[in-house]
Amino acid sequence: MAVIREQIDTAVKLIRSAETCAAFSGAGISTESGLADFRSPGGLWDRYRIVTHPEFLRSKEARLEYWRMRRELIPAILNARPNRAHEVLAELEQSGKLHGVITQNIDGLHQAAGSKNVMELHGTNRTASCLSCGKQWPIEDIQQLLETGDLDPHCDLCDGLINPDTVSFGQSMPEDVMNAAFQAAQNCDLLLMIGSSLEVQPAASVPIAAYQNGAKLIFINKTETASDDLAELLVRGSAGDFMAAVMEEF
Ligand code: APR
Repeated sequence: MAVIREQIDTAVKLIRSAETCAAFSGAGISTESGLADFRSPGGLWDRYRIVTHPEFLRSKEARLEYWRMRRELIPAILNARPNRAHEVLAELEQSGKLHGVITQNIDGLHQAAGSKNVMELHGTNRTASCLSCGKQWPIEDIQQLLETGDLDPHCDLCDGLINPDTVSFGQSMPEDVMNAAFQAAQNCDLLLMIGSSLEVQPAASVPIAAYQNGAKLIFINKTETASDDLAELLVRGSAGDFMAAVMEEF
């Protein structure tokens, strides 16, 4: 426990002395809200195949696979509530210490916790759109279609393909969000990296951009990442518990 105590004190000191904090989160920040991450044992990529965007466009087979994973993910996301890690980031933003959350997550839990400046690098699973005419639905409507057996939903206006407003492999990232994220990373002097394996580019370059601009990094992650050597403070543990303990001291 002594190590953790010391790490909490170090984290509080770093946050207190920082001018501008930013946070970078991955699926690991939402596992304590009951959502599976992707690469931990039993994670989503252990149970579902990654369907790339080009495959989604050209093959019904691939779309059926894609929607099979979403049929698990959508209800889980709709039932999930933010945990202490999400809440503490929102509290730090309200206190003026944290200027924004850069997230790879599509679950909307940062916003649900009260975070205002959330940069969703991989889009959001809270809505879906027609890839042809752009008509948009709340994801609940699409889940209904899936549950009534329509496993490859098409637009009722133009018969185009419907896709959650998320970024799949092989799909371009939202330019404006990427720019805002790198801007936030380069403008901060402390970046909290929480719950990401840092395996997916270009998202994983965001914490590195912060480091290269002189920011200190606090990593809170259950397992190691390729960039652990950049961390000023490396916390091997649960994001919710550690962030709650930091906020208590703060
Ligand atoms: N506290 C701290 N760390 C955790 C917790 C937790 N409660 N639960 C899991 N982790 C860690 C895991 O050890 C792992 O290193 O979070 C990390 C999650 O890594 P991934 O599952 O790879 O998720 P992420 O990094 O967000 O993946 C990036 O990959 O497939 C794409 O689009 C998908 O946005 C996703 C991207």
